[in-house]
Amino acid sequence: MVRAGRRKDIKTLAWISLIGVVVQAVIGGISVRLDLRWWSVAVHFLPSMVLVFVAAMLYMRIAEPDNEAPTRRYPSSAQTWTLIAAAALCIVLVTGTMVTGSGPHSGDAVAGMEGRLELDTRVLAYVHAACMYVYLIATIITTVLLRNSGAPEDAKRTSYVLIALILVQWAIGVIQFRMGVPRWTIPAHIAMSSTVVAFSAFLFAHGKRRLPTLV
Ligand code: HEM
Repeated sequence: MVRAGRRKDIKTLAWISLIGVVVQAVIGGISVRLDLRWWSVAVHFLPSMVLVFVAAMLYMRIAEPDNEAPTRRYPSSAQTWTLIAAAALCIVLVTGTMVTGSGPHSGDAVAGMEGRLELDTRVLAYVHAACMYVYLIATIITTVLLRNSGAPEDAKRTSYVLIALILVQWAIGVIQFRMGVPRWTIPAHIAMSSTVVAFSAFLFAHGKRRLPTLV
């Protein structure tokens, strides 16, 4: 991208991705050396979500021509709601790692509860789920604003897909909570976390784009 002489914002996103992956390799190694203590796993997991966000933004921006000016595609009130949703999603992710951290060590059956987060798992799960409802409601409000303002189809479609993905993630979370975390739900819940982060980034990115001028 540097050699192709692309514009500054996409080069910045690409550099953050590259440096982020290297930093994550180091954090991952440290986390293993710390016997996967709950907080070290969280410190490894949360930057991964930032990197997913950055990668999704890069995916959107790289396709936009460098010589066009960015134009607003939906009202700034909808963009504000995407940011409120993103803030709620950050808290959902942080509290998710705390729910996991307050339970038994999944990678070491003999480790017991030593060094685990000493907070009530049920209460943390309720806080985690409550923040998810704020995230869902903020995304629904964004979608309504997009529909009412005649926003472009691609932005509206992204918001519908995001709502569907949040509902799938909600169902997996509830199954985990009610059925004592069946093994298959853990990778599914993590994978869906990355997916909702990516679609939240797509939705935000649709707010302002550089699009080719039609002649
Ligand atoms: C957008 C919605 C949601 C997202 C993005 C999300 C994300 C996460 C994340 C990142 C973790 C930590 C995973 C780890 O560190 O290994 C987690 C754990 C957890 N979440 Fe969610 N979650 C969501 C909704 C829910 C809901 C609605 C519930 C239902 C109460 C729920 C229940 C749980 C439980 C029980 C755990 C702990 C699982 C374990 O012990 O490994 N989640 N969540």
